[in-house]
Amino acid sequence: MISHPWRQGLHLEPPQGWLNDPNGLAYFQHRYHVFFQFCPQSAGGVGAKCWGHYESPDLVHWTYTGAPLQPGGVYDLGDAYSGSAVAQGDTLWLYYTGNYKAPGPHDYIHTGRHHNTIRVAFDGRQCQGRKQLLLSNLDYPRHCTLHVRDPKVWQEGQMWWMVLGARDQADRGEVLLYRSPDGEKWSLERELKKADFGYMWECPDCFRLDGQWLLSVSPQGLPHGETCCQNVYQSGYFPLSAAPLEGELGAFAEWDMGFDFYAPQSFAAPDGRRLLVGWMGMPDAPYHNPTVPLGWQHCLTMPRELSWKEGRVYQRPAREMEGLCRLWRALPETVEVKTPVRVQARAKGPARLTLAEGLHLEYDPDQRLFTMTFSDSALGGGRTVRRARLEGETLELDLWVDNSSVECYLNGGHTVFSTRFYPIHTPIRLEGQGLEGHYAPLRTLQVEEMQES
Ligand code: FRU
Repeated sequence: MISHPWRQGLHLEPPQGWLNDPNGLAYFQHRYHVFFQFCPQSAGGVGAKCWGHYESPDLVHWTYTGAPLQPGGVYDLGDAYSGSAVAQGDTLWLYYTGNYKAPGPHDYIHTGRHHNTIRVAFDGRQCQGRKQLLLSNLDYPRHCTLHVRDPKVWQEGQMWWMVLGARDQADRGEVLLYRSPDGEKWSLERELKKADFGYMWECPDCFRLDGQWLLSVSPQGLPHGETCCQNVYQSGYFPLSAAPLEGELGAFAEWDMGFDFYAPQSFAAPDGRRLLVGWMGMPDAPYHNPTVPLGWQHCLTMPRELSWKEGRVYQRPAREMEGLCRLWRALPETVEVKTPVRVQARAKGPARLTLAEGLHLEYDPDQRLFTMTFSDSALGGGRTVRRARLEGETLELDLWVDNSSVECYLNGGHTVFSTRFYPIHTPIRLEGQGLEGHYAPLRTLQVEEMQES
């Protein structure tokens, strides 16, 4: 593992190289499993993608075990792209997209690309047996382009379900819903779409939360607004009016209003909680991460517990993270703090909190507007400003400040802002105005690398 002041204390990172989407999230054999899109040889993400793997008994102690899913077979000649996992007895079935780009004069949208839906067994350490081809581009609807990927599979009673993200020939994003009696033979049941909603939907997910069905997608090609869809690509969810086979898509809500959040995936904890993990990054962003020359890039978000209240999803860090908080102290106007640190504060009027002299979190109660602004472009790697409208007159702030990121939970998790930031000096300064609150230093996750025996 690389060691550097910007290496995170609360977030999973690649040991070196590049990380993107969380994959194969599952609880299996008494452990949480978190796979991720991984390019070990290049912090810039150039080269074949495989799946890296972390496991944990408790979401606090983590072991990096290597990269057990490697591409290079007949169906995944190029990359092992994103996918999911379903536990069945002693097997964790990994479902993923085998990606291959054929050489030649191709646009890789209509010609030259292969996106195969594959499954392979994982025994807790290694992939076992053959990679089974379940579906190929010949099986997807003819009006789809070659971009059909990112299987999310789940079981509901005796039935297996799968959603795939797709781009159609008219450059519209959609989700393909499949059903299977055994997890192996799949039939297309339905296509879920929304008029004028981007050209490609990546990394779909579909689950029931407190009785409400949700379809989560990461759409590309949405128009940008002042207080919505401010990033190059988005990710959010549609409430469904009924189960996925019949339900209609309601209004889209974004998962996170910050600069760095994409391609999230959810899974069920053994106690029934629905946990969500996102990639704390953004593909094709106009800003950058100065960790690249240091040998790594990106991390995952903390696992977030979801709940459904008053027509929207509320998010909070998994309660296991709460155990990392040490002694709370009152928040003075100015204080130097070591990261990671958690800050909880309330405001009844206009408020402002500045971190590391260049990251400003502001609340304007007249407009109910929350703003995250970088005044120091080095601190933000070129990040500028993100805004969101809140509900209610007061602001409740729950900030989880890691060594190079901030996750900002507002008003009980009604709205979340996540961003990377790169302070030069540690400890960092916190300067508050119009806020009342406290802060607590945080213990870090215990992360180790598995030793080969
Ligand atoms: C989303 C995504 C997925 C794809 C993967 C490749 O970030 O583009 O659609 O499977 O990343 O790494």
